[in-house]
Amino acid sequence: MKTPIQLRLSIALIGVCLLASLSICSANRPWQSNSSNTSLFRLVWLENPTSKATIGWSQPSNDSAILYYGTVDHGRETKKYKHSQKVDRQQNYDDLYQCFVRLENLQADRVYYFCIEDQQGVSPRFQFQTAPSNPERFTFIAGGDSRNFREPRVHANQLCARLKPLFVAFTGDMINRCNAASWKAWLSDWQHTVSEDGSLTPIVPHRGNHEIRPESLPNYFDTNKDSYYAFSIGGDLFRYYALNSEIPAGGDQLKWLEYDLAQSSKKVTHLIAGYHKPMRPHVSAKREGKNPYTWAPYFYHYGVDLVIESDSHVIKRTYPVRPDLAGEEGFVIAEKEDPNATVYIGEGCWGAPLRKANDAKSWTQDAASFNGFDWIEVSPKSIKIRTVKVKHPGRVEEHTKRSDYTVPNGLELWAAKGGEMLRLNAD
Ligand SMILES: [Fe+2]
Repeated sequence: MKTPIQLRLSIALIGVCLLASLSICSANRPWQSNSSNTSLFRLVWLENPTSKATIGWSQPSNDSAILYYGTVDHGRETKKYKHSQKVDRQQNYDDLYQCFVRLENLQADRVYYFCIEDQQGVSPRFQFQTAPSNPERFTFIAGGDSRNFREPRVHANQLCARLKPLFVAFTGDMINRCNAASWKAWLSDWQHTVSEDGSLTPIVPHRGNHEIRPESLPNYFDTNKDSYYAFSIGGDLFRYYALNSEIPAGGDQLKWLEYDLAQSSKKVTHLIAGYHKPMRPHVSAKREGKNPYTWAPYFYHYGVDLVIESDSHVIKRTYPVRPDLAGEEGFVIAEKEDPNATVYIGEGCWGAPLRKANDAKSWTQDAASFNGFDWIEVSPKSIKIRTVKVKHPGRVEEHTKRSDYTVPNGLELWAAKGGEMLRLNAD
C-alpha cells in the first residue's frame, strides 16, 4: 500500500516521463510542436484544386490568426514565409470558432508549406500538394461512413496517411450524432491522416443523412449551403462531382449537374461522381434510393464512368451497367465496350457498424462486409480500383511519394470476384 506522498511522487514521475517522451517526439518531428490555440486542422478541396485550397481549423476564441505559406519550407518561422493571409471566414459553431483561409492563385502540382500564428503562438508546420493541371496520373481514396467505431476509423485514417493519395473523397456520415462532441472526436481522429512529414490529405466532403444539420458541412468544411460542387484535375483528364443525396436530386441540383455534364462530357476523359445514399443498396433492409436514381439516366447519357456510393456499411462493385426499367431494380449489365456504361462502387465502411451484404443483384460483380475504402488510380489510359481492407496500419509501409500506386508491404486488398484490381479503360 502506497502512502499519499509516494502516490503523488509516482504520479509526478509518470508525468515527467510523458512530457519527456512528448518532447523527444517533437524534437524528432519539429513540425509537430504547437504553441498556438489552433487545432483540428483540415485541408478542403471544393473547386479548382489546381489553384485553390481551403485550410480550416478550430480555436476556442475569436482570436484573429494569420496563415503564413509558401513553396519553401521555413518550419514554424512564420516571418520567413513569402505569403500570408488573414482568416476569410470565422464561424462560432459547436462551441468552437471554425476558421477558414481560402487560398487562391496557387501553382498547380506544387508542394506548399504553412503554419498559423495567433496571439498565443504558432501552429505545427504543415504541407500540402496542389492538384496537377497537366493530364498525369494520380491516386485518390474514396469511402465514407466513419460514424461509430473510432478504432477502425483511426486505422482507416492512418492508412490514408501511409498511402498518400492526392485527396480523399469522403462520401458522408462522418459522425453518428451531429453534435459538438462527435464532430470534435471526428476531427481529432482526422488528424491521423497527416503523414509523418506533416502532409495534410485534402478532403472532398459529401453530406450524409447523419449530417442531419444542413449547416454542419458548410461550418466544418466551408462548403456552399447545399454542399454540392465539381472540380477538374489534369485539365480535361478528370472531373469529379460531389453530389448531395440528402436534398432533392432533381430541381436545382439536377439543372446544375446536367449543364455541367453537357459542357464536360465530350472533352473530359474520366467523369466520376460521389454521394452518400446508394441508388440500389446491397443490404436488403435498406430502402431503394428513389432520389439518387434520378441521376442514373444522366450519368449514362453523359458517360459518367465511375460512381461512388455509401451509407449501407458494406462493400460492392458492379459490372459496367446502364439504367433500364425492365432490368433488375432498374439496371442491366451494359453491352461490352459501351462507352457510356457506369460502374458503381462503395457502400461505406469507414468504421460504421458492418451489415450483411445480402442484396446483390444480377449486375453486381461482388459484395462483402468489412471495413475498407476504395483506392483509385486515374491516368490518361484508365481508372484502376483496388479496395483496401482496414487492418493493422502500423504494418503498412508508408509511401514516400504522393500518388504512388504500388501496393506497399503489409497492405491487405479485397480479393473481389473478377480480380483484386478493377480496370476501366478510357473511352
Ligand atoms: Fe447514411
